[in-house]
Amino acid sequence: MTEFDFETRIDRHGTDAAKWSSQLAAHGQPAPGEAWLSEGLEPIPLSVADMELAAPQVVLEAMKARIDHGIFGYTMVGEAYRQAASDWQRQRHGWDMPGEAILTFQGVLPALYMLIRGMVAPGRKVLLQTPAFPPFVDAITQSGAVVTTHELTLGEDGRYGMDMASLEARLADPDVAMFVLCNPHNPVGRAWDGQELETIAQLCERHDVLVFSDEIHGDLMMPGHRFTPYASLGVHAAKRAIIANGLSKTMNLAGLHLCNIVVPDAGLRERVEELSNAAGLFGVNPVSQAGFIAGWRQGGPWLDALMAHIAGNREHMVGFLADRLPQIRAMPMEATYLAWLDLRGLGMAPDTIVERLVARARVRLENGAAYGQGGAGYFRVNLACPRAMLEEALERIATALGSNR
Ligand SMILES: Cc1ncc(COP(=O)(O)O)c(C=O)c1O
Repeated sequence: MTEFDFETRIDRHGTDAAKWSSQLAAHGQPAPGEAWLSEGLEPIPLSVADMELAAPQVVLEAMKARIDHGIFGYTMVGEAYRQAASDWQRQRHGWDMPGEAILTFQGVLPALYMLIRGMVAPGRKVLLQTPAFPPFVDAITQSGAVVTTHELTLGEDGRYGMDMASLEARLADPDVAMFVLCNPHNPVGRAWDGQELETIAQLCERHDVLVFSDEIHGDLMMPGHRFTPYASLGVHAAKRAIIANGLSKTMNLAGLHLCNIVVPDAGLRERVEELSNAAGLFGVNPVSQAGFIAGWRQGGPWLDALMAHIAGNREHMVGFLADRLPQIRAMPMEATYLAWLDLRGLGMAPDTIVERLVARARVRLENGAAYGQGGAGYFRVNLACPRAMLEEALERIATALGSNR
């Protein structure tokens, strides 16, 4: 038993939640389509990466207390915020993140768009490893740069990795200006280890490539796994790194639109600050700030319990698939609350799977075909929900995909 409630179903209707909307969902991802709107079973979206679970009580209380103050005037990022963020990184992940290195933005993606526009000359390249979170592609192309990709390797045991020789070949391209490292990697669930990250740091130093390390899922570690923040490797890595972290994924606060962009190197930070000033960005939402401070200071036990819940959901899903849909393979998961499933054994085209999921099961999963090389035939399942919701979705998926007709 845990003192935290991850089982109560919370109705999000009437909240304009992107995941439940029939309109364009978060980050320009397509809407579920007309079939979603028709009469029938209540839809279950296990798609967009937010949770069907309430944020920690300590966060809610801190935000309510801040609201009770009554004044929401222009607010600066305060020392308490910087200290709480730093202490969290040091205590949970062993990284001495300097408080003064933190800049705040409305989200990882808005920051990435701005950084590419400001730091990557038009026509130069930004490297992504596929399967890749699709909005990264838009962030690059819409900011005037060119996408170049490196496909992750897939071991016999289902564990993804990186072929360092081919990665180096990509980084050695003189047109590559930035590497977007997703650590841990959405969608494949790898938490890159110190050795992998060290090799990346050496390669990026050798070829003078800026690293954007997206660590927004970094706190969401499956039991028994450890997260290695990229900049914790040392100054040689940190000096050409821009890191995104925060509590938006960790504690289901993405709608508060607050994230850290951490730039340990003072010279690089000055450039990022100039870009931020030039974009007219200033200050922080005081309610979000209060919530984040409380989350970092008091949310650890909730997070530990959450990850036990996610691990339990995954275990349930794996058992269910083995029993009812053995053609589907669940890939190993070290981090995030997103499971990556290989559906190729079903022998169905991805479009047919999507059509059946939407029309018959009325369950929405993310179609791996949108994630580039290595993604087709895979689907991403969001496990951050009450167990009963997952159970119902799995039953419906089994009915929709279990026969060939
Ligand atoms: C790896 C990764 N980066 C960034 C984002 C989006 O972050 P934000 O909403 O802060 O722009 C997501 C959301 O799903 C994500 O999974």
